[in-house]
Amino acid sequence: MQQIAVIGAGTMGNGIAHVFAQNGFKVNLIDVSAPALEKALQTIDRNLERQLSKGTITAEVQQQTLQRIATFTDLAEGVQSADLVVEAATENTDLKLKIFRDLDQHTAPGAILATNTSSISITRIAAVTKRPEKVIGMHFMNPVPVMKLVEIINGYATEKTVTDTIVDLSKKLDKIPCVVNDYPGFIANRILMPMINEAIYSLYEGVAGVAEIDTVMKLGMAHPMGPLQLADFIGLDVCLSILRVLHDGFGNPKYAPCPLLVNMVTAGYLGVKTGEGFYKYE
Ligand code: CAA
Repeated sequence: MQQIAVIGAGTMGNGIAHVFAQNGFKVNLIDVSAPALEKALQTIDRNLERQLSKGTITAEVQQQTLQRIATFTDLAEGVQSADLVVEAATENTDLKLKIFRDLDQHTAPGAILATNTSSISITRIAAVTKRPEKVIGMHFMNPVPVMKLVEIINGYATEKTVTDTIVDLSKKLDKIPCVVNDYPGFIANRILMPMINEAIYSLYEGVAGVAEIDTVMKLGMAHPMGPLQLADFIGLDVCLSILRVLHDGFGNPKYAPCPLLVNMVTAGYLGVKTGEGFYKYE
């Protein structure tokens, strides 16, 4: 594993490119939008600067990390020499299926194709390729440079050698890998999203206010963020779409999204990224 390609220069994509490059891998960061690539490099630079000022990396590591990242707007060109592709495009099933069809065509036959999806079935994504045994979930957590977990998801056909390779690779990124199977929401979001939904229901039913709900969970359970603040941070649209995957996938009413969440997303109150969700942001 030498050459990594990361698809998508958004929050997750730039974080994934950052950790691979910081740990010595060459990274091709690919996005259809040149301004998005430019913004991603600035974000990586800012986050490296933050690490440098904390003394967790040296100036040399900062410089080398940036030098290891090349940017591309053309997918075929960016992935042709990749040993591993990590797709971190927008969480949209049709878009991901199209990207994986293209990746299957443009990457070397032995390349591993991973997706950072938070809830779309790995088995379904793998099924559009001619190499389902080489397709796997590699789910990083936000903020990627900080969070230790990589949730590794085996699709129905994923080969053991591919899982082992991704486990070893995650350790080389100084992360802790955890291997799970491909069922709706995997583990992280199957457990996180019902908690967030329950917090929204508690607000909707008037059991407590935003500050009280978050304070109880922060101080009572030692969570770094309360569930409503975390929902704003993740994006309320992302939370809603993951809850819908759980609801559809299991057919169980316990996963039904709270009507307040649906209303907020419909009205465009998506959290940090739109400036307002359960809290207001500057
Ligand atoms: N890059 C590099 N370093 C960063 C960073 C970034 N993007 N963001 C924060 N940091 C570093 C800071 O420099 C700081 O480092 P030190 O500990 O060395 O001082 C540390 O992280 C903490 O940052 P701050 O002091 O600025 O802020 P904080 O203490 O409030 O922590 C947080 C911020 C790490 C985001 C913390 O609030 C947290 O852990 N929140 C919960 C995050 C979480 O649950 N993420 C998972 C979301 S779910 C998901 O991603 C998957 C999905 O499918 C939906």
